[in-house]
Amino acid sequence: MARGRASRASRFRCLLADRRRPTLRGPKRRCGAKDLAGRRALLRRGGGGGCGLRAGVEIAAYRRGWPACGGTDRWFGPEALREGRMSDEAAVPVIVLEKLTKSFGEKKVLKGVDLTVSAGHVLGYIGPNGAGKTTTVKILVGMLDGFGGTARVCGFDVAREPLEVKRRIGYVPEAGALYEALTPMEFLSLIGRLFNLPARKLEEKAVELLRIFGLAEERDKRMTTFSKGMKQKVLIIAGLIHNPQVIFLDEPLAGLDANSTVVVKELIANLASAGRTVFYCSHMMDIVERVCDRIAIVDEGRIVADGTFKSLQSQVKAASLERIFTQLTSEGGHEQVARDFVRVIEG
Ligand SMILES: Nc1ncnc2c1ncn2[C@@H]1O[C@H](COP(=O)(O)OP(=O)(O)OP(=O)(O)O)[C@@H](O)[C@H]1O
Ligand SMILES: [Mg+2]
Repeated sequence: MARGRASRASRFRCLLADRRRPTLRGPKRRCGAKDLAGRRALLRRGGGGGCGLRAGVEIAAYRRGWPACGGTDRWFGPEALREGRMSDEAAVPVIVLEKLTKSFGEKKVLKGVDLTVSAGHVLGYIGPNGAGKTTTVKILVGMLDGFGGTARVCGFDVAREPLEVKRRIGYVPEAGALYEALTPMEFLSLIGRLFNLPARKLEEKAVELLRIFGLAEERDKRMTTFSKGMKQKVLIIAGLIHNPQVIFLDEPLAGLDANSTVVVKELIANLASAGRTVFYCSHMMDIVERVCDRIAIVDEGRIVADGTFKSLQSQVKAASLERIFTQLTSEGGHEQVARDFVRVIEG
């Protein structure tokens, strides 16, 4: 931790010294003390248009989650991560949960969840039915209050600044939050207007996204007659149309056919490459294994494992995520459970 902090400070010094040099390694060699003092003076004066000032502003912008912070991704975001110029510890935390607790009546559902997700990461949040995944997501997107601990998104406290959080996120919920009496175009226009998208841009985007998902001919039909998968596609579009910085997906593949599943899988990878942070809840272990660069397993309201797929494999000594999952979250005996079930229904 201390090492992470020290290296972040030295990278910041290097950034102040010369923004044109993308390499964040070797700060001593690249940034003389004189350089640094000069840049700091510029920052203090708030003038000169120096790179230090711009960098300072951009870092602050990135921390606050402002979208117009061009360039900072190169320094602190996914590009720097991918190119190995920045360690995970130095990455900007976008989602932070500290000692998160939530009860429904007497029932304790979350029992102290600690989790940090950095910019450009895809976190797979997996766990058995009733483990608390949707509850965690609903807290993060501002749909549930009365929780303990802290939840922050893009630097904003979810409890105190819910609107700032909602401005920056996209959410594809697990259970349909569609107004089925509307057509896809009407629904998407409603959602887009809530996010202040200009009407013309909104229409262009909606038409194009519906076409990509094979719903061009259905765009002006009421959704009451839509299949489960068709509704799910509209929900996915609605969650992403405003180009959010942070995306919460709660079992987004439910009901999708194999082709659409592949498209959404690719979509998640592309969003992460473009610097978006994705919080992805799913029971589809093979997909989580492939698209997530980090996996947190929650069981009975607690995180029981957190790391890359490789690190979980070596910790648990199991080859597949399905095996890791069952070893960590079940008491075993799946075959016996299935046999008992059949015995009971056979009477
Ligand atoms: N509004 C509510 N009132 C009462 N209990 C609730 C409420 N919402 C969730 N719960 C309970 O909280 C627990 C966790 O539910 P949650 O929906 O977070 O599970 P999950 O991990 O998303 O499960 P799944 O994999 O089935 O989607 C469950 O026992 C559920 O019954
Ligand atoms: Mg759920």
